[in-house]
Amino acid sequence: MVKRYGDHRALAGVDIGISAGEVLAIVGPSGSGKTTLLHVLAGVLRPDDGEVVLDGHRVDRLGESKRSELRRREFGFVFQNGMLVAELTAEENTALPLLLAGANRQRAMAGAREWLGRLGLAGMETRRPGELSGGQAQRVAIARALAHQPKVIFADEPTGALDTRTGEETMSALLGAAASTGAAVVVVTHDRDLAARAGRIVEIRDGRIADGVVAA
Ligand SMILES: Nc1ncnc2c1ncn2[C@@H]1O[C@H](COP(=O)(O)OP(=O)(O)OP(=O)(O)O)[C@@H](O)[C@H]1O
Ligand SMILES: [Mg+2]
Repeated sequence: MVKRYGDHRALAGVDIGISAGEVLAIVGPSGSGKTTLLHVLAGVLRPDDGEVVLDGHRVDRLGESKRSELRRREFGFVFQNGMLVAELTAEENTALPLLLAGANRQRAMAGAREWLGRLGLAGMETRRPGELSGGQAQRVAIARALAHQPKVIFADEPTGALDTRTGEETMSALLGAAASTGAAVVVVTHDRDLAARAGRIVEIRDGRIADGVVAA
């Protein structure tokens, strides 16, 4: 697929497939198009050319509101800086996707607490993001991304703001949690060691898949 920002071709013809339950790492230099690729795959951005297909359905043909609904239902997102809602507690943040998916508050909060427990955050349910360490906040973000059992988790530098050890633990938490639900994971990372834990690594350079792709 191709994606342009004005005259700049951020994606210059990337062809990529992801299987159910697969873990795919996207690596490459700053500005090479990794985030753009993630956003096109996740239906956040529409490609200028090419197709995005999920289970046989053309995502790129959907309008904004249908894509937004699809993202809420089928995908989970983890960003570099958590992007948790500062005013909400850990369990409220985690419950958001469940509430958006139509669960009643009681069920959503119960589901959220269960996920926080699975991510080692029992006892921290009522803390706000400002009362959590960076690694704990990222585990809340992982719980939130997985609580509604999405098909695919898209993670953009989920460990980028963490020290090496916390980054490793966070990646383990992400991969373990995804594996427990069967979700596929597409993770952008600068860290080659973390990328090596994916089933497959794709390197992006200048908006293209680089030759000599290293298989993990
Ligand atoms: N909204 C935008 N408008 C214009 N240009 C953009 C926009 N978003 C990204 N770009 C440009 O597209 C190219 C690819 O950007 P992208 O964010 O995908 O890179 P990246 O590989 O994720 O980089 P990083 O590792 O620094 O996050 C860059 O040259 C960037 O400046
Ligand atoms: Mg990026």
